[in-house]
Amino acid sequence: MEFRHLGRSGLVVSEISYGNWITHGSQVEEEAAVACVRAALDEGITTFDTADVYAQGRAEEVLGRALRGERRDGLEIFSKVYWPVGPGRNDRGLSRKHIIRGVEESLRRLGTDYLDLYQAHRFDYATPLEETLRAFDDLVRQGKVLYVGVSEWRAEEIEQAVRIADELGLDRIVSSQPQYNMLWRVIEPEVVPASERAGIGQIVWSPIAQGLLTGKYLPGQAPPAGSRATDQSGRDTISRFLEDEETVRRVQDLRPLAKEAGLTMAQLAVAWVLQNENVSSAIIGASRPEQVRDNAKAAGVKLDADLLRRIDEVLGDSVRRDPALTASPARRP
Ligand SMILES: NC(=O)c1ccc[n+]([C@@H]2O[C@H](COP(=O)([O-])OP(=O)(O)OC[C@H]3O[C@@H](n4cnc5c(N)ncnc54)[C@H](OP(=O)(O)O)[C@@H]3O)[C@@H](O)[C@H]2O)c1
Repeated sequence: MEFRHLGRSGLVVSEISYGNWITHGSQVEEEAAVACVRAALDEGITTFDTADVYAQGRAEEVLGRALRGERRDGLEIFSKVYWPVGPGRNDRGLSRKHIIRGVEESLRRLGTDYLDLYQAHRFDYATPLEETLRAFDDLVRQGKVLYVGVSEWRAEEIEQAVRIADELGLDRIVSSQPQYNMLWRVIEPEVVPASERAGIGQIVWSPIAQGLLTGKYLPGQAPPAGSRATDQSGRDTISRFLEDEETVRRVQDLRPLAKEAGLTMAQLAVAWVLQNENVSSAIIGASRPEQVRDNAKAAGVKLDADLLRRIDEVLGDSVRRDPALTASPARRP
C-alpha cells in the first residue's frame, strides 16, 4: 500500500480506502463483510469510510465489529452526517442538534471513542453554514472528531466554508468526498482547483463506477448474477450508467488497454483516479474479498500520458464533465 496526506492536513491515509455503502448490513452477509475488511487490512488499507445512513446504521455496526481487536490508532475511521436517520425533522441535515446527536450515535455503533474524519454528506441549504462549522469545531475541541470534511459540495460552497472558518477561527475542512472515475469527471473544472487553493484533498467514491469499469456488464445482456445491478438496494444507483448502452460498449474497448498495461480492468480504473494529485484516497467498495485484493493492487501504479490519452479516445463523449452535476438536494430530504 502507498499513503498520502489528507489534503494539506497532517493526517496520513491509505491511497486506497475501503467503504461499506450498499454492502455491509444490506447486500452481503456479515461473514462476507468481515472477510472483505480482513482482506483490506491484509492489503495494508488503514482507512475505512462509512456513514450513519448506510443500511440505517447497520453498516457502522458491522464495520465496528469487523475492526474490533485492531489497534485503533493504526486505523483512520471516517463517517458522515446529513441524510435522514429517523422520522423526526431534526433527524437529518447539518443543524447543531443533529450533528451533536449524530456523532454520538455513530461512535456508539462503531464502538470507538473518536472519528478520524466526520463529513457533511451533502450541503444543507436549511442551516446557516456558520452553525454547521461551529458544531463541527466543537466536536474537534472535544476530541470526538479529529478532522472535518464535506461530500458532494460545489466549489463555491467549499470556498465559503473555508472563508467563514478563517474569519471565525474555526477548524477548517480538510477533505471533499465526490464521485470521481473515468466516466464521471465533474470535479475537474471547479472543485479540484478550489480544493487545491484551500489545501483540501479529495477522497473519491465509486472509482470503478460501482463495478461497470470492471467490464463485467456486457452490452445488451442481463447483469451477472450476484452483481450490484441485481441487488435490490444497489440496482437503482448503478442503473444510470447501465442504461446507456453506448457507454457499456465503450468500456469493453478499454480491455486491450488494461491488458497492455498489465492491469486488470478494476486496477486500471482505480489507478486512473489516483493519477490526479489532488486525490488523497480512492474509496473502493466490494462484495467479496477477492475484489479487495484485486483492486488494492492499483496502489502506486503510474499510468503514462499515452495510455491516459487513449482511454479518453475510447470513452469519448461518454465522459461527464459538467461541474453543475455536483449538487445537493435543494430541500432537506
Ligand atoms: N459520499 C457519498 O455520497 C458516497 C456515495 C457512494 C459511495 N460512497 C463511498 O464510496 C465507497 C465506494 O463506492 P462504491 O461501492 O460505489 O465503489 P466502487 O469501487 O466503484 O464499486 C464497488 C462495487 O463494484 C463491484 N466490484 C468491485 N471490485 C470488483 C472487481 N474486482 N471485479 C468485479 N466487480 C467488482 C462490487 O459490486 P458487486 O460485486 O455487487 O457487483 C463492489 O461492491 C462506498 O462504500 C462509500 O464509502 C460515498
